[in-house]
Amino acid sequence: KTVPASAVLMEKGNYRHFMEKEIHDQPEGCQRTIAAYVDTLTDQTTVQGVDFNAIDRIQIVACGTSWIAGMIGRYLIEQLADLPVDVEIASEFRYRSPALRPNALAIAMSQSGETADTLAAFRHCIEAGMKSAAIVNATESTIAREADVVWPIHCGPEIGVASTKAFTAQVSVMIALAIAAAKARGRIDEAEEKRLVHVLLEAPRLIAEAIGLEDALKEIAAEIAKAKDVLYLGRGPMSALALEGALKLKEISYIHAEGYAAGELKHGPIALVDEATPVIILAPYDSWFEKSASNMSEVMARGGQVVFITDPEGAKHAPAGAKVVVTAPASDPLISALVMSAPIQLLAYHVAVVKGADVDQPRNLAKSVTVE
Ligand code: G6P
Repeated sequence: KTVPASAVLMEKGNYRHFMEKEIHDQPEGCQRTIAAYVDTLTDQTTVQGVDFNAIDRIQIVACGTSWIAGMIGRYLIEQLADLPVDVEIASEFRYRSPALRPNALAIAMSQSGETADTLAAFRHCIEAGMKSAAIVNATESTIAREADVVWPIHCGPEIGVASTKAFTAQVSVMIALAIAAAKARGRIDEAEEKRLVHVLLEAPRLIAEAIGLEDALKEIAAEIAKAKDVLYLGRGPMSALALEGALKLKEISYIHAEGYAAGELKHGPIALVDEATPVIILAPYDSWFEKSASNMSEVMARGGQVVFITDPEGAKHAPAGAKVVVTAPASDPLISALVMSAPIQLLAYHVAVVKGADVDQPRNLAKSVTVE
């Protein structure tokens, strides 16, 4: 759809691009999302529509950034609720013969609710007798209409082709689902539910703090803009966020980037590392930190230029020698993917601005892909 020029000017406010505005909208967007899935008075989840004891697995189908949000959800749901989660790229899922079981819950993760492959994969699940839930921004969309349950992401319309605020809203829903499923399945008690909800409620403030790193990221972006290839590494949920970092960069700046689970470094990508390759390592001070720090040393030993995105404890414990250390606010591992999203989005955004790329309408890409 075409947005009238006057409306565009108004809606962008003081921002140059919708993407920039949408990155900055995230604290408020996530606040709205979270408020829809938790009760702020009792610190309990209020996720409706699915009995998490009546299902024995979750099958998420999605494309692009939505698929990455699903991957982050998988880490959290499996860890907290002990419920198996499969996450699959919808275009693969729909054309193979997956072994579907009716006792699973199918989740379509789609900002637009119109992505053709996601819709087809979702229908595949519904036809197999699975209960279905749609996590969408567009609640009138086809995917929403065909689902048994709709879990809206409530972040408001997203105009920039490269998804930002829809991504963090999707991840927020996944976190609420993980807590709700864990509680329903008796894997956590009420006190732990309250603690986790409380942590989730802190996320908007911490995202805002992370956005405050923008000036530092702008400086780094000026350097990254000169690169031909960029590598993103992380472990745990940060391995999924590494994929998102690389995707954002290639989508809008046209620099070749790859995201990898850091443990895979030695199985291939380390061959790419040289003085000209920035390596962005996402490593909050969590249970994976030591391993990520040792990957950082391996990269530096080969002359790689490390941009280490971490938190205050991580900055203290990081091996010396990184080109830059970006210190995001400390956060519970439950929400670290939310807090670490803003730095990678801002980095990609400012690289694209330096390169003079059309940030909101990157070449060859569409906001909603309704063809195969
Ligand atoms: C397109 C957009 C991406 C988006 C993907 C999935 O490729 O450019 O930003 O992540 O579609 O879209 P959906 O609406 O299903 O989340």
